[in-house]
Amino acid sequence: MVEPVGLTGEGLGAGEEVGETVEEKVKRIYGGVVEVREPVRNPREMVRLLRSEYRLVVDERLVSLVVAAFLAGRPVLFEGPPGTGKTEIGEAILSLWAGKTAFVIPCSSGYDEYRVIGDFHPLMAMRLGFNEKSFIPRPLLAALILDAGVLVDEIRRSSEEFQNLLLDVIDKRRIIVPEIKRVFRARGIGFQFIFTSNPEDIAQGELSDAFLRRVVRVRFDYPPPSVEREIVRLRLDVDVELPDELLSAMLRVVGELRRRAVYKPGPADTVLWARIAARLARLRGDSRVTRRDLIDAASIVLYKRVGEEDVVDAVLEEQL
Ligand SMILES: Nc1ncnc2c1ncn2[C@@H]1O[C@H](COP(=O)(O)OP(=O)(O)OP(=O)(O)O)[C@@H](O)[C@H]1O
Ligand SMILES: [Mg+2]
Repeated sequence: MVEPVGLTGEGLGAGEEVGETVEEKVKRIYGGVVEVREPVRNPREMVRLLRSEYRLVVDERLVSLVVAAFLAGRPVLFEGPPGTGKTEIGEAILSLWAGKTAFVIPCSSGYDEYRVIGDFHPLMAMRLGFNEKSFIPRPLLAALILDAGVLVDEIRRSSEEFQNLLLDVIDKRRIIVPEIKRVFRARGIGFQFIFTSNPEDIAQGELSDAFLRRVVRVRFDYPPPSVEREIVRLRLDVDVELPDELLSAMLRVVGELRRRAVYKPGPADTVLWARIAARLARLRGDSRVTRRDLIDAASIVLYKRVGEEDVVDAVLEEQL
């Protein structure tokens, strides 16, 4: 599938020049969305910025492990249950490390090199031939050229062929595009990879031994209640009070559901539950969340599977 980037109709789009190199195209196409800052590579400082700028609670040990892997030239695999922050934390760490907004590649089975490295604009290729002029760079190549990080999300959803393609790029730190007779090499160490995966998710493929040999694996899990409490407080974005005893009850509810229910709510669900309850309180003219707001919000946030409402109701009844 080809989608025109920066091109309109049959002609060349605004800013497009026929003699443009791939590097110039990358800057023109992606430059506007990639924010540049000083790279931050000190784990303690990264933890501080993850909290203040990205509103993420991440412990220093995890950040240090990722930084050590990057320094050793290894990609990192974040593996763990849904809603534990793998994607957001990965993207934020890569962005701080490189000093540039990270590129995110959401995997699906149809992903191939044309979707991530580049392809040809059909009309331009017809007019100008399959060469650098009609070539459209895609995110992986753009990240290598800009020395930015790449978050490959849900790697298990991709094919083994695609995983091998990524490993080859990571190992050699270069991308060859034979059609335009060019080799692109990474120039800095900003170009790093974090993969995410949720092994418990159904209908996902296995990761090959070759893949696992290359990456270092960082295990994510549900945070202890004290950390999850901090996360909810940090993420509560409405000026409505959430009383401490209600937050404690919420944490007991999600903890119990993680033990008893098939759908196990992650911190992402706890945060959403608090946010919706706080908005309900506001709509009802209250300045603090009540038990009723929490029960009502739970009915849209925690009821995920048909037939599991009873378990959720029982746990709410017991703990709230
Ligand atoms: N450590 C954390 N700090 C702050 N927020 C967190 C944290 N962990 C989880 N969250 C909450 O979860 C959301 C991020 O979840 P994210 O999508 O990154 O999880 P995930 O592990 O990638 O989940 P999935 O497996 O479903 O893709 C945040 O928007 C926030 O509400
Ligand atoms: Mg994710």
